[in-house]
Amino acid sequence: MFFTALLTAAVAVSASPVERQAKRAVLSLNHVSNITPGNVTSIKNIVNKGQARVNKINGVQAVGPAPDVGSGSVTNEDVSYVAPVSIGASNTWCGAQSSCEKTSTGKSTGDSVSVSYGSGSFSGTEYTDTVSFGGLSVSSQSIGAASTSSGFTSVDGIIGFGPVDLTEGTVSNTDTVPTFLDNLYKAGSIDTNVLGVYFSPESGSDSDDANGELTLGGTDSSKYTGSLTYHSKLTSGDASEYWGISIASFTYGSTTLASSASGIVDTGTTLIYIPTSAYNKFLSAAGGATDSSSGLARFSTKPTSNFTIKFGTTSYALTPAQYLVPTAQYSYYGLTSGKYYAWINDGGSSGVNVIIGQKFLENYYSVFDTTNSRIGFATAA
Ligand SMILES: *[C@@H]1O[C@H](CO)[C@@H](O)[C@H](O)[C@H]1NC(C)=O
Ligand SMILES: *[C@@H]1O[C@H](CO)[C@@H](O)[C@H](O)[C@H]1NC(C)=O
Repeated sequence: MFFTALLTAAVAVSASPVERQAKRAVLSLNHVSNITPGNVTSIKNIVNKGQARVNKINGVQAVGPAPDVGSGSVTNEDVSYVAPVSIGASNTWCGAQSSCEKTSTGKSTGDSVSVSYGSGSFSGTEYTDTVSFGGLSVSSQSIGAASTSSGFTSVDGIIGFGPVDLTEGTVSNTDTVPTFLDNLYKAGSIDTNVLGVYFSPESGSDSDDANGELTLGGTDSSKYTGSLTYHSKLTSGDASEYWGISIASFTYGSTTLASSASGIVDTGTTLIYIPTSAYNKFLSAAGGATDSSSGLARFSTKPTSNFTIKFGTTSYALTPAQYLVPTAQYSYYGLTSGKYYAWINDGGSSGVNVIIGQKFLENYYSVFDTTNSRIGFATAA
């Protein structure tokens, strides 16, 4: 059984500046996808899915240019990182593929649960049961057993890592539902309420490398170089229920694309989304246009400048090799040879319109620190 580690909907992290080796668990992540090889509609749906997420954050119900996104009936084309999970049962929930049976230790709370992610949803009944993940166990974890779900095709549910505010209003008669990490921390099973996340890019044409790692209760210094720099998690506005972050600037080479944006860091989103005006400046500075079949920014001449995101006073550069789709993956995504495509896309023109997604996180180790309400980054090893 597999669960997506949907970290936005679930990340909890704490923050000791000192790396803690005791009481933490490290588990590896595999990169999987439901892409239909060679069918460009798959990548377009991924692009649309991120835009649907932005709309969800902004409370916009009618979403996205693709008709199948707003309805919550996106059936595939998802790219997620999954980790194998052992459950005594399993907004941690299960039952997307097959019914999630109550175990001998499970207890129904009698409460109903309903969660919408922007491009997927589930509803069902809330239970408590033992959940084990990465060698750590919580004996009375609140878990949703889905009776209906949409948008989840290759995973059976989610282990939610926070922030806990996102669980507000999801379970009847309940304020917020402590996450698995919250419960581990409370029980003393981990030393800090911190989640360290490492993704690495797919190599060549491979699409299912074992290429990620989650550290529960700390960070893994073997997965990054230099030191971690922390940025405050936003405490107000629509982004603050998520891992919200303020952005000092986006630049392409020496061209400033935007300053003062706000957005979210989201391990469950594939691409990087920036404000519409910044995206348009990026296209004109790099000589590209949005490709109607893939939805990606497309260039006839290879862009040569770095795309740089500045958080606080620290700049995080992505080189063309890092923000362009590798040519080895063109046939997989159904893209046209001789053209260049970027993982940077249009996040919209109002509200929260930035998502720092996997294509950034594959290059920068990230730390979600609940205790100190901050997000850390370092260059991925
Ligand atoms: C590509 O996928 C879309 C949506 O899943 C489908 O409608 C279309 O028929 C597919 N195209 C080909 C050539 O398989
Ligand atoms: C682009 O970014 C890389 C990696 O951070 C850096 O080594 C390189 O110097 C940057 N290039 C320019 C022109 O700033």
